[in-house]
Amino acid sequence: MNRLIVGNWKHNPVTLADALTLAKAEAAIAVPEGTTVVVCPPEAYLEPIREACPDLILGSQDVSALPQGPFTGETGGDIIKNLGVTYAIIGHSERRAMGETDEDVAAKIMAAVATGLTPIVCIGEDAETKALGEEAVKTHLQAQLGSIQEQGDVIIAYEPIWAIGTGNADDPANAATTAKWIAEYLGYLGMKARVLYGGSTTPDNAAAFLADPAIGGLLVGGSSLDATKFAGIVNA
Ligand code: PGA
Repeated sequence: MNRLIVGNWKHNPVTLADALTLAKAEAAIAVPEGTTVVVCPPEAYLEPIREACPDLILGSQDVSALPQGPFTGETGGDIIKNLGVTYAIIGHSERRAMGETDEDVAAKIMAAVATGLTPIVCIGEDAETKALGEEAVKTHLQAQLGSIQEQGDVIIAYEPIWAIGTGNADDPANAATTAKWIAEYLGYLGMKARVLYGGSTTPDNAAAFLADPAIGGLLVGGSSLDATKFAGIVNA
């Protein structure tokens, strides 16, 4: 079974020395056949980690939708790609909470693809939407999936917001049902989706999520900050 395990370090750690230690430990994980491991450190660490761990597959946590030019503080896909980065997380709920819209996400996906980065597009409902029931969740996810205009292969991370960083992971069977629905919906639009699950994954629950082929991998937050835990997930 072909799996993609993505570590999202978010805004951690705060020193380059700690980042290099973590990256080296994760680069040393024995990865089973058929599994691909991607590490997404803060942007400032991409280059030194690239130098220290040439074989580690890297992703960014965001990408600017803006082209090269007078845009202070932006980092575009071209810069990221030229550092030897392969993937870009786009539309994480933590960025959406800072004001990123579906339109922004759509523009970032286009910008990433144009530079040759592979987007990992995050979608997921909050607790209030979940409480409204399955139809409300589907309507919400459909609106978020509307940002994806690509044809062909896409990677979606289904991350229910109420499960992120809470220790309250989704029920694996429920996550698999949602993943299947997302793939079918995108299939109807002409896309072939790999759907990852994210939200409080641990070495203890990872195998249950990966047991259903509808879930093509995991987007791992907190557990990716500990190389032993991350290795446990990679080998789940
Ligand atoms: P978590 O984060 O594993 O810490 O819940 C997942 C994510 O936000 O990508």
